[in-house]
Amino acid sequence: MKSIKGKTALVTGASSGIGEATALRLLEQGATVYAAARRMDRMEALKNKGAHLIAMDVTNEDSMVKGVNSILEKEGSVDILINNAGYGSYGAIEDVPVEEGRRQFEVNIFGLARLTQLVLPGMRDKHYGKIVNISSIGGKMYTPFGGWYHATKHALEGFTDCLRLEVQPFGVDAIIIEPGGIATDWGTIAADNLKETSLKGVYKDKATETAENMTKMYTGGKLSGPDVIAKTILKSLTANRPKTRYAAGSWSRFSLTMRKVLSDRMFDRIVQFMI
Ligand SMILES: NC(=O)c1ccc[n+]([C@@H]2O[C@H](COP(=O)([O-])OP(=O)(O)OC[C@H]3O[C@@H](n4cnc5c(N)ncnc54)[C@H](OP(=O)(O)O)[C@@H]3O)[C@@H](O)[C@H]2O)c1
Repeated sequence: MKSIKGKTALVTGASSGIGEATALRLLEQGATVYAAARRMDRMEALKNKGAHLIAMDVTNEDSMVKGVNSILEKEGSVDILINNAGYGSYGAIEDVPVEEGRRQFEVNIFGLARLTQLVLPGMRDKHYGKIVNISSIGGKMYTPFGGWYHATKHALEGFTDCLRLEVQPFGVDAIIIEPGGIATDWGTIAADNLKETSLKGVYKDKATETAENMTKMYTGGKLSGPDVIAKTILKSLTANRPKTRYAAGSWSRFSLTMRKVLSDRMFDRIVQFMI
């Protein structure tokens, strides 16, 4: 195992859930942590534990460039990038305005891609770097009303596989994390988006049921906590030779195995039954 003590890490989406838990884990390991998000007030606890805070909107070029440059000026490099910021734009594909679909890609893919470009020159110079992209089991499987979200996470899987091949010769690892159901704000935000988008039109019956099930699942106290993913991320960062992808959290193994072994039609039936 390799220590990350003294390494400089940038964690996006650190104001909540998986990002916050990961920032805490990295601080515990002696890394210098830059915690980035839009809601600065939500990161006060991280600041008190020693994190440096950065106001960053991953849809805004200036805020990403300024954020990364401020780290480079102080620390000389970003050794670890945890691309975690993201949300679920839920709603029937017929109902979600394409503009919202574009926004979903801006947050879940283009922001992450731009940050990757900004940190790579420094990582190549040092012949050390870890880029950890938080995908989802939703990058392999799919559910109704999650079309735009799943599109971004499926894209992220392919994007990161290509990245891995390109940057490996420069000593940089690109790692995919595939969380299952994790008890964070993600579920209620996605359910609220679904309600806002599809509770009036022709999809309303199934959409209402799905939104209610999602809310129940994410607030029912049965899902894995975000630290399960933070620990998995740490495992990937300290591995001598990291795996290409790590799945963890509620339903992750089950869902991915089902997706792998069942035909599309069989998997469709299971998803329609469960969601
Ligand atoms: N929870 C799950 O079940 C689950 C499962 C699979 C994958 N994931 C993935 O895990 C990642 C983290 O989600 P989470 O579960 O921890 O959800 P969360 O608690 O809602 O956290 C999402 C984070 O993303 C940040 N964010 C959203 N839009 C942003 C923007 N435009 N610019 C910068 N930051 C932005 C939020 O910060 P601000 O609003 O303060 O900016 C927040 O810190 C996401 O990529 C999600 O898709 C989650």
